[in-house]
Amino acid sequence: MECRSFCLLKMSQPIVVSSPGKLILGGEHAVVYGKRALVTSIGLRLYMQLIVNAEKMNQQSIDIHFQDTNRKETIDIELVNESYPIEIQAIVFIYKHFQINRSAQLTIRSDIPIGAGLGSSAAFSVCLVGCFYLWQNEKIDPDEINQLAYQVECLFHGTPSGIDNTISTYGQSLVYSRQLRQHMEFHLKNLAIIDTGIPKSTKRMVELVRLFVEANRDEAEAILNEIEKCVETMIAHPEEMKDTFRRNQDLLKQLGVSNDAIDHILAKLTEQNLSGKITGAGGGGCLIALIDSLTKEQVLEILKGNSIKEIYFVECGVEGLRQEETFP
Ligand code: PMV
Repeated sequence: MECRSFCLLKMSQPIVVSSPGKLILGGEHAVVYGKRALVTSIGLRLYMQLIVNAEKMNQQSIDIHFQDTNRKETIDIELVNESYPIEIQAIVFIYKHFQINRSAQLTIRSDIPIGAGLGSSAAFSVCLVGCFYLWQNEKIDPDEINQLAYQVECLFHGTPSGIDNTISTYGQSLVYSRQLRQHMEFHLKNLAIIDTGIPKSTKRMVELVRLFVEANRDEAEAILNEIEKCVETMIAHPEEMKDTFRRNQDLLKQLGVSNDAIDHILAKLTEQNLSGKITGAGGGGCLIALIDSLTKEQVLEILKGNSIKEIYFVECGVEGLRQEETFP
């Protein structure tokens, strides 16, 4: 078949899914070592649309459109190797897993800032598996999708704890460990997300912590246990959240995932009797802060002169992976 024009092919009905980003409120990094973390989904979503050629023609190619950057690529499945960007490798991995064996179009759009600790790669992984799964099975099975999305997350991050794909799949708020997935009703008032705009790599920060843990076994174990205690306090005493954020942040700093820019922002908040911490891997990306009833402008004024890209106020505890009627 010579024709590369998809408009001439008979395409199946579009399948559209979306899934949310997330905030880790407490327990990041410790969760990699089996401790419990507290995580909530947020009202920023990634949307993905899959259209598959209705006729099987042994044509293994995908047209991919990342709408946010208007990046368009046509991928020949057989040519993709490890030199390709991870997101392309991930798409091909799932395409092969579901044995599509026909041409397809994938369109992606996201509200979630990339590489900021808000779960953009997990939402991508969950939606990717979700839309191919729906194409094959015509219904969503969260357990199966989550398991496979974890494998996609491994392409992005090595051996993550699974917290990000799990919250993006199931939504709401969760107490999560490698052994536990417990739904929680959790509501925090006056929570702001502060995006430092500083690039960060989850893989690098997780590796940094691993080196620390291996070199300082007893000290590290004590820190990780203390972090888990913070999570317990967050659950049992949400009214103490400001102090608990500070304590969790202090422990993250001891693990080596903070830096001067982050410390400075958090010190400015403390001066005003506010409180914040890293959310996610650290080293940059986003912080979360309890800002009383201050406005975004007031927080920006307090933090002026610091590296602040954006401040978000988001809904927490939203729906996980879902099928959408249309691509927005
Ligand atoms: O990728 P991030 O920034 O959301 O970090 C994920 C949380 C970590 O605990 C640092 C890693 C993990 O796999 O749980």
